[in-house]
Amino acid sequence: EVPADLAGRHVVVSAGGTREPLDPVRYLGNRSSGKQGYALACTAAARGARVTLVAANSALPDPAGVDVVPVESAVQLREAVLKAAADADAVVMAAAVADFRPAVYAPAKIKKKSGAEPEPLALVRNPDILAELSTDRPRAGQIVVGFAAETDDVLANGRTKLARKRCDLLVVNEVGETKTFGAEENEAVVLGADGSETPVPHGPKEALSDTVWDLVVLRFP
Ligand code: C5P
Repeated sequence: EVPADLAGRHVVVSAGGTREPLDPVRYLGNRSSGKQGYALACTAAARGARVTLVAANSALPDPAGVDVVPVESAVQLREAVLKAAADADAVVMAAAVADFRPAVYAPAKIKKKSGAEPEPLALVRNPDILAELSTDRPRAGQIVVGFAAETDDVLANGRTKLARKRCDLLVVNEVGETKTFGAEENEAVVLGADGSETPVPHGPKEALSDTVWDLVVLRFP
């Protein structure tokens, strides 16, 4: 029996991985499959929420009953998330957002010049959407959740990140080349700004999603 504890709530979930365009045919990207974000969207819908899924470059099918907003880059993801967040009760940033983007977008395909060394690639910082949302909540009492993929010192790095981003909850998981990205299962610790620590054993991404929604529901004002 699924609880309808998100009935009457609007939740926003970002999923997938951004692509930062270099020219019309090339981008800088990452290995995020979107599975965790899609699982969060599906479980929220099953618990009665109205769900906006801001989906960055995932190959997954649109979940039934979910409002899907497709985006490519971090800048587009920011616009879509901020727009949807205006009346949201909770925002969960599960997308892998590129920290940097190419400083210049070449409107025509970049050519190699024969014999010449390649030009160094200049990057600029992308906006940190999670930190921005957490700092200026578009709606009072809104719960903001982040994800952190760490390769080492998972808990210590997670605590530092939670404090820096000022979100309410941070889902921290350990990643490697085959771990987490693209996998059906996940293992994580959910850190709370109140000092709480909720370990989630290795299991389906839906189970982790339900734990996240349980913790969000507990924090609603
Ligand atoms: O700092 P780091 O990239 O590890 O933080 C991960 C968390 O921050 C994720 O929830 C991700 O969606 C979010 N993020 C963001 N904007 C960025 C970078 C990350 O919202 N530019």
